[in-house]
Amino acid sequence: MRNTDIFLDEQKYIFQTYARFPVLITKGKGMYVTDNEGKQYLDFLSGIAVNALGHCHPAVVNAIKNQAKKLSHTSNLYYTIPQVKLAKKLAQLSGLNKSFFCNSGAEANEAAIKLARKYAKENLGPEKFEIITMRGAFHGRTLATLTATPHEKFHKGYEPLPAGFKYVNYNEIKAVRDAIDEKTCAVMVEPVQGEGGVLVPAAGYLKELRALCDEKKLLLILDEVQVGMGRTGKMFAFQQENILPDILTLAKTIGAGLPLGVMAASEKVAAAFVPGSHGSTFGGGPIVCEAGLAVLETIERKNLLKNVSEMGSYLLSELKKLKEKHPIIKEARGLGLICGIELEMPGKEAVSKMLRKGFLINCTNDKVLRFLPPFIVAKKHIDSMIRALDETLSE
Ligand SMILES: Cc1ncc(COP(=O)(O)O)c(C=O)c1O
Repeated sequence: MRNTDIFLDEQKYIFQTYARFPVLITKGKGMYVTDNEGKQYLDFLSGIAVNALGHCHPAVVNAIKNQAKKLSHTSNLYYTIPQVKLAKKLAQLSGLNKSFFCNSGAEANEAAIKLARKYAKENLGPEKFEIITMRGAFHGRTLATLTATPHEKFHKGYEPLPAGFKYVNYNEIKAVRDAIDEKTCAVMVEPVQGEGGVLVPAAGYLKELRALCDEKKLLLILDEVQVGMGRTGKMFAFQQENILPDILTLAKTIGAGLPLGVMAASEKVAAAFVPGSHGSTFGGGPIVCEAGLAVLETIERKNLLKNVSEMGSYLLSELKKLKEKHPIIKEARGLGLICGIELEMPGKEAVSKMLRKGFLINCTNDKVLRFLPPFIVAKKHIDSMIRALDETLSE
């Protein structure tokens, strides 16, 4: 089938909620994907921070294959081994003892919001339900998570929105302190704002938020859907500052492309959820959990966090060199393998040009070109992407 037929059928049969690039991707291996005409693309996006081991990593493929032959679904009415093994592993790695499994980042955040409210009502006071979130944040597309996302474009048309959210500027502790009142129960924040334009807060920000939440008896919810599971160079971004959130959300990387979201919490906070408080038919199924275990095991066995830190520093230093050369770049920034360059103009055209040259990157918040390569990225891949980017910016 020619890709034009697929494009036409997509238009005819699929909700038009995505502005897709005109590429029909048919396979992937390691750092590369291939389209239906055999053209290869070097993947510096990882399906928006998902394919951290690259495409079709044998450990993930085998985990999925083996589990699919044994058992694919039971619902959560019964016990399954992979789910318990993954929860135990996550507890060992994060220090948060309890996991709730769902199917996406938005669902993980929805669960976090529900847990925070329930815990607060039962333990902090019946009037406490409000959650402070940050301007520029992105927490998902369900009604509650899009309300937690303070951006008009996500809200428009969906009013009335759920009550109980208050917005403050990111990276400003005083703004959070000033916003806290008798209704506040939690602060929800991304350790790095991904969709907001790769914004890395000042060192100490998370630590100060933790201290403020402790002082005011509030819960700290960290949304690590985009940067958790290694992308910053630590298994969890909160480990950059040696803190522990009360509630943590994960998705993307952990499922290696399968729908797996996690809401983890301390024993004390998790106790607010009892049988019937929350649930999911598919959440934490045996196949996705085996894939998650394979991801974690591979990150550890191959020491990929070291590569994330080293290649992240290299990528950022190369982007900074480009900034010196191209006045169109306002700033180059990042942490580990989440990097971005903010342009003086919209970045969509640059993304299309890079695509034509055989590189997958994307543009977020209109002017920020974002780079989210797999953790297996090597210097040669970075050099070739930087060459193409240099050319693109010169054009
Ligand atoms: C920080 C953050 N939270 C939540 C989400 C929503 O995740 P999902 O698209 O899996 O619902 C995203 C998606 O980009 C994200 O970056």
